[in-house]
Amino acid sequence: MALSKRVFTAKNNVMAICEDSTALAKIVIDRCRKLASLTERPGTITRTFLSAPMRQCHEEISRWLEPLGATVKIDAAGNLRALYPAREPDAPRLLIGSHLDTVPDGGAFDGALGVAIGVALIEALRGERLPFAVEIVGFSEEEGVRFGVPFIGSRALIGTLDEALVECKDANGVSVRAAIDGFGLNASEIPAAKLEGDIVGYLEFHIEQGPVLEKLGLPLASVEAIAGQSRLEITFRGSTNHAGTTPMHLRRDALAGAAEWIGVVEREGRATPGLVATVGAINATPGATNVIAGEARVSLDVRHRDDAVRARGAASLVREAEQIASRRDLRVDHKTHLSQSATPMDGFLVEQIDEAIRKTGSRPHRMTSGAGHDAMILAQQVPAAMIFLRTPGGISHSPEESILQQDVAKALETGAHVLGQLASRTTQRRVERA
Ligand code: GLV
Ligand code: MN
Ligand code: MN
Repeated sequence: MALSKRVFTAKNNVMAICEDSTALAKIVIDRCRKLASLTERPGTITRTFLSAPMRQCHEEISRWLEPLGATVKIDAAGNLRALYPAREPDAPRLLIGSHLDTVPDGGAFDGALGVAIGVALIEALRGERLPFAVEIVGFSEEEGVRFGVPFIGSRALIGTLDEALVECKDANGVSVRAAIDGFGLNASEIPAAKLEGDIVGYLEFHIEQGPVLEKLGLPLASVEAIAGQSRLEITFRGSTNHAGTTPMHLRRDALAGAAEWIGVVEREGRATPGLVATVGAINATPGATNVIAGEARVSLDVRHRDDAVRARGAASLVREAEQIASRRDLRVDHKTHLSQSATPMDGFLVEQIDEAIRKTGSRPHRMTSGAGHDAMILAQQVPAAMIFLRTPGGISHSPEESILQQDVAKALETGAHVLGQLASRTTQRRVERA
C-alpha cells in the first residue's frame, strides 16, 4: 500500500532545520548558559537533586516548551517530562533527554545540552506532528552527587527506584523521600513515573567529555556501548587523638591508612589496561589540624568496558584496603552503592544515527562511552542510543567545559534526520499493519 500524503516525509522539516541549524545552535548554547546560571552556589555551576535552582530550571524549560504545544509536568522522581503529541492519538512515543543535575562546580553542557537539543528539535518541527509523540525528559539526578547513588531520575522511568534507594540519606541526613516530599512532590507516586505504552526508543545527545573526537577532527559520534561502573564507599576507622602528644608509632590514624590505600588505587588503575579507578572524595572526622583522624570515608569509582575486569578490580581494591587496615590496626568496611553493567546501545538506532551523521556530510564514527549516562538505565527496557558531540580540550566536569556552535548545528541536523528516518519507518509499519 502506498504511503498516505499526510505522512511526515521529513523532507521539509529536515530542510528547514538544515537552513536554520546554525542559528538554532546559538539558541541551544544560550539556553545551556541560562540553565548554568541557576545554581546553588553563586559563581559556580552546581545544581543537585531537587535543589531550589532545579525548580527554576524546570520553570525555564517549561517556558521554552509550552509555546511549542508540549505539555510539561514534573513526575514524582523530580524528572521534567514534556509531551509533544503525535499526529494521531495512541501513537508510539520517542524519548529524547538527558540530566539536569550537575557535579559541584561543573560545566554548562554536561546533561543540559541533551535537553536543550531535544527542545530545539521540537522547535524545528514548526508545529508539524510526527507519527510518534516526542517526550523530552530532563532527568532529576544522574551524577550521584547528593546521595552517592546515581541515576535516581532514570531509574524511576524503568521502575527500579526501589524502597532502599528512596531511604538513602544525603550528608545532612535528608532522605530521597524527604527531598521529594519537601519539593512539593509525592514520593508514594514514584511508580506512576514508570514508562508505559509503546516506546520507539530513547535518544540522548551529550558532550563526549573526552578528547577522542577532537583528535579525530570529527564533530559527532554514535555511542555503541557504555562502560560499566562500580561505586563504593570505604570507611577506615582508627582512634581520634591529640596530634601533638601521640607518638607516631602509637597512632591509629584512619586518614593515613586511607592515604596509603589511595596510592594503591592509582597504581592498580594504571597497571590494568582499560581500567580507570578514582578516589574523588574524602571525608576525615573530626577534620581538624591538630587532631588525628579517627575516621576517613573515601569514595571509589571503578570502570571498564569488560564487567569481569571491573568486578575483579573493585574486589582487589577492597582486599588491599583490608590488608592496609590490618597492618595499621585499623578497621575498615565498605558499601557498594552501584554496580552497573556495561551496556550496549540499540543496534538499529546506532545505524540510524550513523546514517543521519553521513547525511550531514560528516564521517560517522562509533565509540564506547567511559562516562555513565541515563541511556544505560533506559536501555534496560527500551531501545536506547546516544550521539556524542566533540568536547573542546576534552574538558568536562569543570567550569571550563565548552562546545562548538558548528558541532551543535551538526547535532541538530543529525537529530532532524533521525526523526525523519524514524517517522518514515513508523508510518511504513502502521501502513503495513493496516
Ligand atoms: C557521569 O557523569 C559519570 O560519572 O559517568
Ligand atoms: Mn557528568
Ligand atoms: Mn552527563
